[in-house]
Amino acid sequence: MNDQRVYNFSAGPSMLPLSALERAASEITNYRGSGMSVMEMSHRSKVFLQIFEEAQDKLRRLMNVPEEYQILFLQTGATGQFSAIPLNLIGKTGKADYAVTGNFSNLAYKEAQKYGQINLAVSSADRDHSYIPRQEQIQLDPQASYFYYCANNTVYGTEWDYVPETGDVPLVCDMSSDILSMPVDVSKYGIIYAGAQKNMAPAGLTVVIIKKELAGHELPYTPVMMSYQAMIDKDSMYNTPPCWCIYMLGLTLDWVNENGGLEGMEKLKWQRANMLYDTLDSTRLFQCHAEKGSRSGMNVTFRTATPELDAKFVAEAAQAGFVNLKGHRKVGGMRASIYNAMPVEGVEKLCDFIKKFDQAN
Ligand SMILES: Cc1ncc(COP(=O)(O)O)c(C=O)c1O
Repeated sequence: MNDQRVYNFSAGPSMLPLSALERAASEITNYRGSGMSVMEMSHRSKVFLQIFEEAQDKLRRLMNVPEEYQILFLQTGATGQFSAIPLNLIGKTGKADYAVTGNFSNLAYKEAQKYGQINLAVSSADRDHSYIPRQEQIQLDPQASYFYYCANNTVYGTEWDYVPETGDVPLVCDMSSDILSMPVDVSKYGIIYAGAQKNMAPAGLTVVIIKKELAGHELPYTPVMMSYQAMIDKDSMYNTPPCWCIYMLGLTLDWVNENGGLEGMEKLKWQRANMLYDTLDSTRLFQCHAEKGSRSGMNVTFRTATPELDAKFVAEAAQAGFVNLKGHRKVGGMRASIYNAMPVEGVEKLCDFIKKFDQAN
């Protein structure tokens, strides 16, 4: 690891692979003989179109995205998709099912209510979103235009360990905080989307993988920037796309490929996460927020018995080079976000620090 870099446990934007950053640094003023930075290129230029197509192709191959799906590179933020999804999909029946298992699915659920009849198919609010409901608990409406859920709950630190069965109702999934951390069967989904700023690229890019037949039925007042059909027709270039982020995505995907692909990412994910959970479970001082069986491999939420001791932990950890461990205000305590680019060694060192803190306090 580069000496001056800290172990950054931020929930997002978060660590990117060092090799991707170094590659970008080496090309920042003159991209491969073009005489200009990627930041300075026309998005219609031949040189940029190649960067764009390569990033799309690499993602398609890595995630095994079938032909009938389009990969869109948009600028809406994941939050923009909370509106885009109902605007584009709800017209079919006027109804949709939502699973609320955390902060962002709750925001998506509230936003969707502006556009149709939204059914709360299941919620984990009864135990402070510390668990993932099982399939039997989900109340499905066969008339729903789509079923919405969030695969990994960044704030509460829980992650679905199964893909919900919804029959003929298309599945829509927010994978912002666990995309590229494991192989996924894309063909089970209508839409997969993710803000890029955790496992893919800098903030500013939102990736949407959509089964093309779902587009083209949007509500008449859908802003053109939120119309999937308009973006499919123009291959994400209805307007200027987030060029730099798309370039960075390509570099991150190279790193994923060099490190075992999605199978490799999944192995590393549970190596890091299990090490951290085992350490926390072995202490007297720390307790995890998420229930066993629902724990996230990306965001580990934990606390001590008092906010004062939590604050002491966060401060001493930062001094030791482990930064951004303060939990989200909704949960309190601590959160270690250990996305793909977090080296295993960073988690090993954090575990040593946790053990020492446990003994000293
Ligand atoms: C799971 C999930 N969905 C949505 C969002 C919102 O993303 P954005 O800030 O890109 O709108 C976040 C942000 O952390 C997230 O973790």
